[in-house]
Amino acid sequence: MVYNLAIIGFGTVGQGLARILVNKKDLLERNNNFKFKVVAISDIIKGTVIDQNGLNLAKFLQDVQKEGKISGIKKSDFSSVEIIENSAVNIVVETTWTNLETGEPGLTHIKKALALGKHVVTTNKGPIALAYNELSKIAKVHNAFLGFEGTVLSGTPAINLALRNLAGASVKTIRGILNSTTNYILTQMETGTTYRNALKRAQTLGYAEADPKMDVEAYDAAAKTTILANVVMNGNIKVTDVIRKGITDITVHDIRTANLKRKKIKLIAKVWRENGRIQGQVSPKALSSTDILANINGTLNALTYSTDLLNDVTVIGRGAGGIEAGYALLSDMLALNQKLIKNF
Ligand SMILES: NC(=O)c1ccc[n+]([C@@H]2O[C@H](COP(=O)([O-])OP(=O)(O)OC[C@H]3O[C@@H](n4cnc5c(N)ncnc54)[C@H](OP(=O)(O)O)[C@@H]3O)[C@@H](O)[C@H]2O)c1
Repeated sequence: MVYNLAIIGFGTVGQGLARILVNKKDLLERNNNFKFKVVAISDIIKGTVIDQNGLNLAKFLQDVQKEGKISGIKKSDFSSVEIIENSAVNIVVETTWTNLETGEPGLTHIKKALALGKHVVTTNKGPIALAYNELSKIAKVHNAFLGFEGTVLSGTPAINLALRNLAGASVKTIRGILNSTTNYILTQMETGTTYRNALKRAQTLGYAEADPKMDVEAYDAAAKTTILANVVMNGNIKVTDVIRKGITDITVHDIRTANLKRKKIKLIAKVWRENGRIQGQVSPKALSSTDILANINGTLNALTYSTDLLNDVTVIGRGAGGIEAGYALLSDMLALNQKLIKNF
């Protein structure tokens, strides 16, 4: 089978996936029996292009890098939703902006695709954090696959690790460092750099947005905590249910005081069960230096699943980056391909 992909949102992650697909096309066909064509790319500013025979991805990447838009090919007037409705598309790659209030435009894209029986892979946290239970029901009814590995820890295995590799073991609690920007800032502050200067440095290096609220006030980590709670621990919580405190009040003095007690301050996400209900929290914690999470520095992320059969299982890896998040999309598509091959 040859999959026809439509990439909706051609920013850092959409382009990261495109780069991987260009570089690994032959290997993916040979080793994974994964054959694909990208038949459409839709992006608000860069433009929309369609070719049922498969687009020249390498050329698009060059154009976008040079000119900031897709050029040299007749653009289509189709909207992103019309692209999804196109009968030739069977995998929708949803990589538009995250919106944690409405989930849009991703929520509409994903609902539309699943309701048409099309498979979806996404890195967009908004729709999954706000509507996972609803989306997974639509996927089930229409026999479609919904992959969202990249919504937590980017391409570092987190969601599929829990659902596939740890199947049969019960996850009792989850703890993790889920946001790269705040971990970078706290690590810089360990060297005596003030919060303001560490944030500035993170912005210069492209780790933090001009408006850093989503990261430093822990909205991003709260969304990921919600996804883990609902997907891995069968919860039914909302992003606003997560007890949330960011790092904006942390001072170098707090960090020094913690260090004197052989502790490190980290922004820790936690999911646990209390009185039969799943709960989530993100807040700065002073961790003992022997805690594995105390030693996760810079832009690295980590996640510990505490299970009944294996005790603690911890993954450590990069939680952001175009190639890393692009890999998450690829890993979801390969999981889909495996599933379809087995059912055939
Ligand atoms: N970057 C990472 O490391 C990372 C890691 C994990 C998850 N994610 C998530 O993955 C998603 C993509 O991230 P990103 O870093 O690639 O963001 P980005 O660079 O801002 O790219 C998002 C793209 O979506 C386009 N877009 C927005 N609305 C659209 C619509 N209605 N139709 C078509 N295109 C639309 C934007 O268009 P224009 O800019 O051209 O207007 C932009 O090119 C986000 O939800 C993000 O939270 C990112």
